[in-house]
Amino acid sequence: MTVPENTHAPTHYGDWRDDFYRQGYVVLKGVIPREKAAYYRQKELDWLQSFNLGLDLNDPTTWTAEHLPQSFKAGMYLNYCAAHERYVWEARQEPAILDAFAQIWGTEELLVSFDTINVTFPGRTDVTWAPWPHVDQAPERPGLSCVQGFLNLSEAGPKDGGLLLMEGSSAHFDEFFALNPPDRSQGIGAKHYDFYPFREEHVRWYEQEKGCRLVKVCAEPGDLILWDSRSMHYAAFPEPESQTIRTIIYVCYTPAALATEEDRQKKAELFRRWETTTHWPHCNIHGHGKAKIGDEVDPNERDEPLEKPVLNDRLLKLAGVKTY
Ligand SMILES: [Fe+2]
Repeated sequence: MTVPENTHAPTHYGDWRDDFYRQGYVVLKGVIPREKAAYYRQKELDWLQSFNLGLDLNDPTTWTAEHLPQSFKAGMYLNYCAAHERYVWEARQEPAILDAFAQIWGTEELLVSFDTINVTFPGRTDVTWAPWPHVDQAPERPGLSCVQGFLNLSEAGPKDGGLLLMEGSSAHFDEFFALNPPDRSQGIGAKHYDFYPFREEHVRWYEQEKGCRLVKVCAEPGDLILWDSRSMHYAAFPEPESQTIRTIIYVCYTPAALATEEDRQKKAELFRRWETTTHWPHCNIHGHGKAKIGDEVDPNERDEPLEKPVLNDRLLKLAGVKTY
């Protein structure tokens, strides 16, 4: 199977896919009911409290690193088997989410990433935050190769934590890197192959030369946000006015036929170890390993999820453990 060369909406679909290709992202409203979103949200918050580090959801003074397991960018939990909790796998098997990705790729035979969750507390003063505009697709990789997404579980208004995305930027991916040959001399690790950070002048090029516009992607609980991995984006930290704890589950699927047998086996092994990966489902398969404190494994680490998923046929195929 080859990756579709659908850089600029090759077809008129007459549905949300037209918006997806034009804007480089789309918000699908209410793919799960609000009550179901509230259930997933509560599971995330329960999971954070299960570490017994003194986190009190009613006491913002405890919303600090001291009372939380380690995370990346103050919200992404890359360790502690977070990606394999039962509720996360339940979310990955939500029919409407699977259906959205099946519509994009034209197949129901999909692999899912072992992406994680994000819980970002507002009002934190113990962390610093700076924009990191980037794409999550290697400049060397042609065409639409990955579609990222998350299931939104909390209100994401203009001031809340959420996603900032350069609308329309995906269509200019090839031109940008033709004009700005990627500097790959900085010793990027294999894990970061599908990542490219932009400088301020690059952001201005998209805005001033290409007429793109940085948008805060607003959403409600139960919405699914999808974006082309060639879209420039980064996470917005909650602004001081926000009192909302941001809760999301990352979801990302690509056709199983795109994976080599070697990568599928790597993925199956990471599943057996309950590891978290990047958002790439079919290639660029690298685990995040255990959380460390210095050279030692964090004593809060786990050998298995708090609640293990039910290993049904669909899950095992999405995980790459079984073949289609
Ligand atoms: Fe990203």
